[in-house]
Amino acid sequence: MPLVGLGTWQMTGARCRAAVRSALEVGYRHIDTATIYRNEREIGRAVRDSGVPRDQLFVTTKLPPGAAGRERRTLDDSLRALAMDHVDLWLVHWPPRGGALVSTWRALLAARDQGLARAVGVSNYRTAQLDELTAATGVAPQVNQIPWAPALYDAALLAEHRRRGVVLEGYSPFKNTDLRDPVLVEIAAGHGVTPAQVVLRWHIDHEVVVIPKSATPERIAANFDVFDFALTDGELGRIDRLSTRRR
Ligand SMILES: NC(=O)c1ccc[n+]([C@@H]2O[C@H](COP(=O)([O-])OP(=O)(O)OC[C@H]3O[C@@H](n4cnc5c(N)ncnc54)[C@H](OP(=O)(O)O)[C@@H]3O)[C@@H](O)[C@H]2O)c1
Repeated sequence: MPLVGLGTWQMTGARCRAAVRSALEVGYRHIDTATIYRNEREIGRAVRDSGVPRDQLFVTTKLPPGAAGRERRTLDDSLRALAMDHVDLWLVHWPPRGGALVSTWRALLAARDQGLARAVGVSNYRTAQLDELTAATGVAPQVNQIPWAPALYDAALLAEHRRRGVVLEGYSPFKNTDLRDPVLVEIAAGHGVTPAQVVLRWHIDHEVVVIPKSATPERIAANFDVFDFALTDGELGRIDRLSTRRR
């Protein structure tokens, strides 16, 4: 799973197509979408137009919790829209209400067994909910996609995911960040990069998957230009301490 992917929430139509094309041109190989983003068709088209071979791409989509009970039909619709025969990762977008937590998870596992999703996981789940799925089926989600950013940093929560073998995938890295924060600005200046690039590099150095969204070609490129520098342990610690989470 590539550590940096393109987020695509709130991008539809030609704007979405152009953003995905730009991303693929500068080297992204991981695209994050969801049934509710209503852009799977555009993403499929951008991928085809790009000429990037399908087996070099990592495509994630997500099941809306309201589709509990209609999981397979919903995945079939996603695959038809994407014009793909499988996704690389299929997530439950949020925990379904009521008793569907486990039955939905069983449906995802069945789709994985049938080769329609290479990996399956969840999003916005608490660790107790991850454990409920594992206890019921013996299989833990491979990924939990949750909000993550320096202000949300929680070392214990990261460790809880690691201990369970669940990959932590962060979302909304910028929406939850003040890019004018003096710590980020100072560290960025020291590396000749932007505070946004420092935020993305902080994810990478913690081995947390990050999926920044941008519709702007320059930002799409800058957000992927984060592999030529690394943060020192001291810098990582300073950024970790921007967390406002208290346990
Ligand atoms: N599982 C879930 O429940 C869930 C929830 C939220 C998000 N997500 C996923 O995570 C992805 C990312 O989260 P997000 O879309 O909420 O927000 P985000 O990636 O944190 O922020 C996107 C915003 O930041 C701006 N931006 C992008 N690059 C920038 C840069 N280098 N410098 C300054 N500003 C920059 C974008 O503007 P421009 O577009 O104008 O460049 C846009 O306004 C989503 O697209 C979606 O795929 C999942």
